[in-house]
Amino acid sequence: MSAEHAFPERLLRFGHHEAIAVTVGERGEPHAAAMGVAPAGADIVMRPYLNTRTLRNIQAGSAVSLAFTHDSLVFCDVVLRPSRLRFRRGRSERVYVLDADVDLYLETVPRSVVLGDRVASVFLRVTDVYEGSRSYFPYSRANSMLIEALVYFTKLRALGPGASPPEGDVRGWLSALEYSISVVERLGTSELIECAEEVRRELEGMRVLR
Ligand SMILES: Cc1cc2nc3c(=O)[nH]c(=O)nc-3n(C[C@H](O)[C@H](O)[C@H](O)COP(=O)(O)O)c2cc1C
Repeated sequence: MSAEHAFPERLLRFGHHEAIAVTVGERGEPHAAAMGVAPAGADIVMRPYLNTRTLRNIQAGSAVSLAFTHDSLVFCDVVLRPSRLRFRRGRSERVYVLDADVDLYLETVPRSVVLGDRVASVFLRVTDVYEGSRSYFPYSRANSMLIEALVYFTKLRALGPGASPPEGDVRGWLSALEYSISVVERLGTSELIECAEEVRRELEGMRVLR
């Protein structure tokens, strides 16, 4: 491993990790979305679906900040309560960062975008790294499972209306979602359970479940 490659590979040592990506829209407004990221040599690769605002903003020239946190409530706000999100300018004027309970911020510049059939691979060059407010807490299954539930929830939400009856992948996503919510309900605090219930309520309003 060259010294240049060492940073992304050391930071993202388990391969695929979850981040909150903040991009800037055409009118200068920040936009946050949960996105998976992985090391790609000296860069970091992120794979947004083709129809995401995140990809549109990047294609229009936005820089990208990544926020890393273990706190599922931050993911919950990003996915379900975007109006609650607060942003501030990054260390570079070009980016906004999420103002939340975050361990580490990366400021990045997209170096290249490769379009696939369903997702794009966006290669990000890291330009700055600094710590956030950092909060230490031990591993919690309920916390991890809430993030897991949000992953499957966003997959189902992205299908839009008319994807019923559930079949194939969708059936698998629904049972993963049910299982993860059941762990949150069994082991989580009221804050975590409240988010899981919000997921359930939103799902009930989506035709995919009928
Ligand atoms: C933990 C987590 C990871 C996610 N990873 C990705 C991803 O790698 N690519 C993607 O397109 N959507 C991913 N999603 C779903 C998006 O965050 C969600 O659909 C988002 O609203 C789409 O992006 P947009 O708001 O920019 O349109 C993820 C969701 C969660 C909760």
